[in-house]
Amino acid sequence: MMESFQRCLFLMLLVPGLQPALGADDCPIEIDPPAVVVKYGDPVSVNCTVFTEHVGMGWVAKQNPVPNQPGVQSLLWTVENLTVWDINPQCFANFKGVPQCLRKVSVTVYNTPDSVSIRFENHTGPLVEGRQYRLVCEVQNVAPVQNLRVKWYKGIEVVDITLYPGESKTPVNVSSTLLITPNRTDDGAQYKCVAELQLGPGGPQPPPKVESELFNITVHYKPNITSVPSIVPVIRGYSEVLQCTAEGHPPPTINWLFKGKRVATNGTYSVSGTADRVGNYTCIARNSEGHSAREVLVVLKEDYLPLIAGLVAVAVVVILVIFTMIFCIYYKSTKMGHYNLKDRKPCTQNGNVAQNGRDSTFPMKVLSIWV
Ligand SMILES: *[C@@H]1O[C@H](CO)[C@@H](O)[C@H](O)[C@H]1NC(C)=O
Ligand SMILES: *[C@@H]1O[C@H](CO)[C@@H](O)[C@H](O)[C@H]1NC(C)=O
Ligand SMILES: *[C@@H]1O[C@H](CO)[C@@H](O)[C@H](O)[C@H]1NC(C)=O
Ligand SMILES: *[C@@H]1O[C@H](CO)[C@@H](O)[C@H](O)[C@H]1NC(C)=O
Ligand SMILES: *[C@@H]1O[C@H](CO)[C@@H](O)[C@H](O)[C@H]1NC(C)=O
Ligand SMILES: *[C@@H]1O[C@H](CO)[C@@H](O)[C@H](O)[C@H]1NC(C)=O
Ligand SMILES: *[C@@H]1O[C@H](CO)[C@@H](O)[C@H](O)[C@H]1NC(C)=O
Ligand SMILES: *[C@@H]1O[C@H](CO)[C@@H](O)[C@H](O)[C@H]1NC(C)=O
Ligand SMILES: *[C@@H]1O[C@H](CO)[C@@H](O)[C@H](O)[C@H]1NC(C)=O
Repeated sequence: MMESFQRCLFLMLLVPGLQPALGADDCPIEIDPPAVVVKYGDPVSVNCTVFTEHVGMGWVAKQNPVPNQPGVQSLLWTVENLTVWDINPQCFANFKGVPQCLRKVSVTVYNTPDSVSIRFENHTGPLVEGRQYRLVCEVQNVAPVQNLRVKWYKGIEVVDITLYPGESKTPVNVSSTLLITPNRTDDGAQYKCVAELQLGPGGPQPPPKVESELFNITVHYKPNITSVPSIVPVIRGYSEVLQCTAEGHPPPTINWLFKGKRVATNGTYSVSGTADRVGNYTCIARNSEGHSAREVLVVLKEDYLPLIAGLVAVAVVVILVIFTMIFCIYYKSTKMGHYNLKDRKPCTQNGNVAQNGRDSTFPMKVLSIWV
């Protein structure tokens, strides 16, 4: 850098009429730091150093300029509260016979938004499932807008990001719009928007951000009948409870209809097992968004319990009779093998003996014959 500067001086001596403007690379000024990121209202200071002989150096700035000062090699520009958006500070140095040399400092003055808020565009109150709505996020007084990212969150998930291309040093008011078509699963969902200033590695880490409040949405939707059987058998002479449940917002009213007449004004109806009560019942769930219905067929079932009990009793009697007959036949045949016919006792007596359980081997034999 020094060499090129000397060559430049030499050239100018050779051609006195030529006064080339010094390019940035030819300027023997160093700025530390070369770029600063500062919050509006915060302090900032930048050091300027000149490497060669000069007749004076100073700072040009819209706030706290430093007038030409000879005899120093470095000079600090300091602002306690930076309150100029377009501050544009430059360090200059004057040389004998050479034009002034200037070096700019890149200053990014930022301001985190004063407020970030969400609202509906042209709407208030609960939403209706399936319709489209616009959510607007308003970001006030933010700078610089080209570093702004507006992130939309639904719960913890980022659903959209808005960027703002352009160049602006002064604060602006901006907004971002999110289109939503809510459904029933979105009832109670929480949205928020976050304005984040991404100021690069020289800026504060993590990037400063301002969040809106949580924006809760309420979604109204037509009822959906969630549980109802399609056929309900009712035993004659008894009763059965018909149960219908439905889901909806606002909570639906649930009616049971039978032959066009309302029989119950809540989800439960006790239907009795008589011929005039069977047929199609309709469950209707209704709210402000609409209604849905489901049919239930109630059928009468005969009470077979007494009949079954009777059949069982008959079967038991029949089996007993058969056993008695087998026993008698068996008894007769064994007696005839071992004893005289004269000693034969009446069949009924031996039946009693067997029933008393004294002759335990006897029934086993009978079984082994028949199995
Ligand atoms: C400015 O920079 C020069 C050269 O690097 C250094 O000598 C001087 O101390 C610095 N001044 C301040 C205030 O940091
Ligand atoms: C700079 O800001 C501080 C606090 O932020 C304040 O006390 C002080 O008065 C301000 N100074 C000027 C010159 O505005
Ligand atoms: C919202 O309503 C305003 C006036 O009430 C109208 O000018 C604007 O176009 C509407 N915006 C939308 C997106 O419908
Ligand atoms: C931003 O909005 C606020 C409040 O409405 C207003 O006071 C301010 O002047 C606006 N700023 C700009 C740059 O439009
Ligand atoms: C409801 O909307 C979400 C997206 O918001 C979607 O993932 C989901 O499938 C929708 N559910 C129904 C039943 O439409
Ligand atoms: C949104 O929901 C959250 C959590 O359920 C609650 O803390 C907050 O007050 C609600 N906000 C509004 C505006 O209703
Ligand atoms: C209604 O409920 C039934 C049974 O639970 C379910 O299969 C169906 O998806 C629901 N419909 C809607 C729109 O949620
Ligand atoms: C449903 O309504 C009937 C009368 O119509 C009442 O006896 C019953 O307690 C109600 N059940 C519920 C769960 O509200
Ligand atoms: C019940 O309704 C179904 C159709 O929903 C119909 O086919 C059936 O005949 C009806 N039954 C009675 C007993 O009304």
